[in-house]
Amino acid sequence: EDSERGEHEHFLAKEIAEQPRAISQALRGRIEERFATVHLGGLNMDVREARAYRRVTVLGCGSAWFAGELGAQMIEDLARMPARAESASEFRYRNPVVEPDTLYVAVSQSGETADTLAAVQELQRKGGRVIGVVNVVGSTIARQVDGGIYLHAGPERSVASTKSFTSTLVAFALLAVHLGRMRDLSPADGRRVLDALAALPSQVQDVLDTERETGTVAAVAAELATRESVLYIGRRHGWAVAREGAQKLKEVSYVHAEAYAAAELKHGPLALVGPELPTVAVVPDDDLFDKNASTLAEIRARRGPIVAVGHRDVPNAGRTLVVPRSEPELDPVLLSVPLQLLAYHAAVALGRDVDRPRNLAKSVTVE
Ligand code: AGP
Repeated sequence: EDSERGEHEHFLAKEIAEQPRAISQALRGRIEERFATVHLGGLNMDVREARAYRRVTVLGCGSAWFAGELGAQMIEDLARMPARAESASEFRYRNPVVEPDTLYVAVSQSGETADTLAAVQELQRKGGRVIGVVNVVGSTIARQVDGGIYLHAGPERSVASTKSFTSTLVAFALLAVHLGRMRDLSPADGRRVLDALAALPSQVQDVLDTERETGTVAAVAAELATRESVLYIGRRHGWAVAREGAQKLKEVSYVHAEAYAAAELKHGPLALVGPELPTVAVVPDDDLFDKNASTLAEIRARRGPIVAVGHRDVPNAGRTLVVPRSEPELDPVLLSVPLQLLAYHAAVALGRDVDRPRNLAKSVTVE
């Protein structure tokens, strides 16, 4: 094990650091620059079939579900197909209406998650076509689905998913451009996203290098580790990033964290806000920046400490963890990295069993 971790003390740190390479591997051989299209051989889907789908439903559990939320948003934005994500563990207990013109996408790092597998089997029993976004080659879900996209992220040993989360976002961006280019996405818009994908590995490396040089996230983590609870907020893409960030903190540091859509705060959780409850706010520099800033003003007015993750200093935040800008569809990849580091450093500061958090298994193969 020691030799596999290399220079890193934990697999979690190693896997966070491996993200530039994992993203490159997810992209390798899949971008056709000349036509701004994407080659996804494992899908086995021709133009006629792709155009026949009217909707997309994405299923996964935990971080795979949160990545699926972002994937669904990318498909809706780029392929202009109504798309939604759902927890596979809930889906399997419903009696879902399975439609032939819906494309189903099952997301799983391990390819062994029992709830996701059960959802896939139920869909197939009802005639649905399910494709997979899976990391482990030859896993049960990879064999069960009707084609799919492998992440090629390499083995993920730490219980908390990191490189598989960001690689899943990359796989969804490829799928969204692929579907979009067979529908109404222009070559220029396709190229915009594909160029941004190609730039991601070095941008993620920049985030990692900055932290290595400054230790800023580690310092913030040491402070958050002393708190009982942390609120994570964001809007649109930022909300899914916040959900994943809260999940990371909970599972590896055992500090309670709750993610809310920022606009939902005043519908209930604002009652909790005060000097004892820090907020981690995901605030990309997008069309919602001012709305997010005004939410932060409300938190500040109640003396709630705020750490923001964004592209430039965010008003009312005590500190902003700044990441490079990508295209809006791909900003979540970069915004997620400081939140992974935050959870990691909080867990280390608290002396947790970082790679094997209590009560959790890497893949949940039982109901
Ligand atoms: C992620 O940090 C978690 N350990 C967990 O939510 C995980 O993503 C979930 O159990 C799904 O696993 P899978 O991707 O292997 O299906």
